[in-house]
Amino acid sequence: MPKDLDENEKELKAAYALLKETQAQLIQSSKLTALGELSAGLAHELNQPLTVIKGLSQYLLRSCGPQSQDHEKLKLIVEASNKMEQVIKHLMIFARSETLAFKPVDINNLINDVFPMVKELLVSGSVEIVLDLKPVPTVLGSAGRLEQVVINIVANAKDAMPDGGRLTISSFTEVRGKQTFARLAVSDTGCGIPEDVKERIFDPFFTTKEAGKGTGLGLSISYGIIKEHGGEITVESAAGKGTAFHITIPAGE
Ligand SMILES: Nc1ncnc2c1ncn2[C@@H]1O[C@H](COP(=O)(O)OP(=O)(O)OP(=O)(O)O)[C@@H](O)[C@H]1O
Ligand SMILES: [Mg+2]
Repeated sequence: MPKDLDENEKELKAAYALLKETQAQLIQSSKLTALGELSAGLAHELNQPLTVIKGLSQYLLRSCGPQSQDHEKLKLIVEASNKMEQVIKHLMIFARSETLAFKPVDINNLINDVFPMVKELLVSGSVEIVLDLKPVPTVLGSAGRLEQVVINIVANAKDAMPDGGRLTISSFTEVRGKQTFARLAVSDTGCGIPEDVKERIFDPFFTTKEAGKGTGLGLSISYGIIKEHGGEITVESAAGKGTAFHITIPAGE
């Protein structure tokens, strides 16, 4: 019996939504690939002259002494080259070509391991931290890279709550059909993300922070890392109320 029109239309709509989603992911991953290729060359070329600038300005800073009228200017050069070094380090992460040896990782252990660093990050603002860790399946991955994702998200949460607030890290198991996933959610009660900004936050170099403060690489790196783990990262946010990042990684031994 032929399917009725309604049902056909529903299927078509679902297929179209899936196509849109796949297309969005493809665009995101091709952006990252392009950036990876560009970064490999750039990072290499920039590192050498930067080493010279940094080395010489540090030398001059030491030798001219704090009384010199150029002392402050030299300090600015040293600080600026430190900042550039950070950006280059970020780029190197995109540029690396080796594939990592993945090992079994327990997300809850990872959160406990990274917790002192999270506390350290939030220590200056009056941010309450809530941990809500439920049993999760083991995932296959790189604990170091996954820790980096948590740190990136927490650093953003900190910036979103300059007047304090609450950071919640929770974990739990999700079962979808035959697949089991470890889920991790990091939420804040910060400024939230406006609709038009939301679609760009995972783009490399997208930042709303003032010049010199953000490189706009934190979330695009995190996105790449979660994709490497076969997982998903999504955001949910209400302007003025807060933001939650949800990470899903398939279970694996
Ligand atoms: N928790 C959050 N609350 C509000 N806005 C956020 C949050 N997380 C991310 N954003 C928005 O997403 C943008 C991109 O974040 P991303 O971490 O990629 O870069 P950044 O924080 O600006 O710079 P970087 O991480 O390189 O120092 C931020 O500039 C900010 O506008
Ligand atoms: Mg960031």
